[in-house]
Amino acid sequence: MASDLVRFSVAIPETLLDAFDERTSRRGLHANRSEAIRDLMREQLAEQDMDDPDAEVVGSITMVYDHHVVGLSGALDQIQHDHMTQIVSTMHVHLDHHSCLEVLAVRGAGRSVRELADLLLGTKGVRYGCLAAVASTSAIEAGH
Ligand code: NI
Repeated sequence: MASDLVRFSVAIPETLLDAFDERTSRRGLHANRSEAIRDLMREQLAEQDMDDPDAEVVGSITMVYDHHVVGLSGALDQIQHDHMTQIVSTMHVHLDHHSCLEVLAVRGAGRSVRELADLLLGTKGVRYGCLAAVASTSAIEAGH
């Protein structure tokens, strides 16, 4: 859902604008101030939407673990079966003889997605993990 563009003017210190433009230019040849400011606004709105634990979020849970740890694979599997409504898709990559990388695409109320991430990442033997999620309203419905 794209919306009409509106122009507005903002007064800010020149040094702040210079620093912002300098940072924006690092994004490459096609980077421009308007798009950089739009991104910042979206980020800010998305962060606020995430404050509501009932708001629907979309995102991913990434984790790396050693499948040789006794009981670990089964425990992670059990948690995922208990939360299958929040898990849209999973990808499992065998990194080496010991290590597995698993990426879960998730969707659901922020509270339940965070709970799922905490359970998985808090399981003993999970070496690395993170949840990257954004409120659906910000990611999908806000448009450009
Ligand atoms: Ni594996």
